[in-house]
Amino acid sequence: MIIAVDGPAASGKGTIARALARHYGLPHLDTGLLYRAVAATVLRDELDPAQEADAVAATSFDDLLLADEWLRSDEVGKAASVVSAHPLVRSALLQRQKRFAAQPNGAILDGRDIGTVIAPDADAKLFVKATPMIRARRRHAELQKIGSTVSLDRVLSDIRARDDRDSTRAQAPLVAAPDAAVLDTSFLSIESAILKAIQLVETQLARK
Ligand code: DC
Repeated sequence: MIIAVDGPAASGKGTIARALARHYGLPHLDTGLLYRAVAATVLRDELDPAQEADAVAATSFDDLLLADEWLRSDEVGKAASVVSAHPLVRSALLQRQKRFAAQPNGAILDGRDIGTVIAPDADAKLFVKATPMIRARRRHAELQKIGSTVSLDRVLSDIRARDDRDSTRAQAPLVAAPDAAVLDTSFLSIESAILKAIQLVETQLARK
């Protein structure tokens, strides 16, 4: 069984995908981390994320990097959005994601193009969304917890810029697959969002 979970930054898709993985006992891949590892490698080597060749060279990053907390920073997230717009970076990471999805018992992947490109035949697809302001508030609260003093306005404008870049790129833009169930988490607690996600997956599985 393959479950695809897509959506914009801070929509709650990662939390939901991890909860679904526990619920169904399936392995989970956060595909954003792959783009973040490419971006972190480019930044570490003081290269330019906007240069396709620099970013492609970084797709052979060291897997140990995937556990590095730095990958979760806003600096790396922003650069990840830039490197992910290069078609050659996307194709270099494609097989790795498809292999993960093809495990014998199945898998759960979250990202931007899982239901559209990586696993178009997934058994269940969710598109998780929330308003930009609500996503900015969530991200702002997380950043405050780790001691950041960045303003809510700044976080909101970063979220809008990231949405814009992720949605308007030519290849595999952020868009809901036509057969995805849309889950708006704007006014849901984490617990209710997870319950709703399980219900939506069950409804899709029952239709199979
Ligand atoms: O989900 P995230 O914030 O970790 O993703 C970081 C960036 O990676 C995001 O801005 C766009 C890119 N990305 C992508 O293009 N395709 C994916 N499947 C996952 C992430």
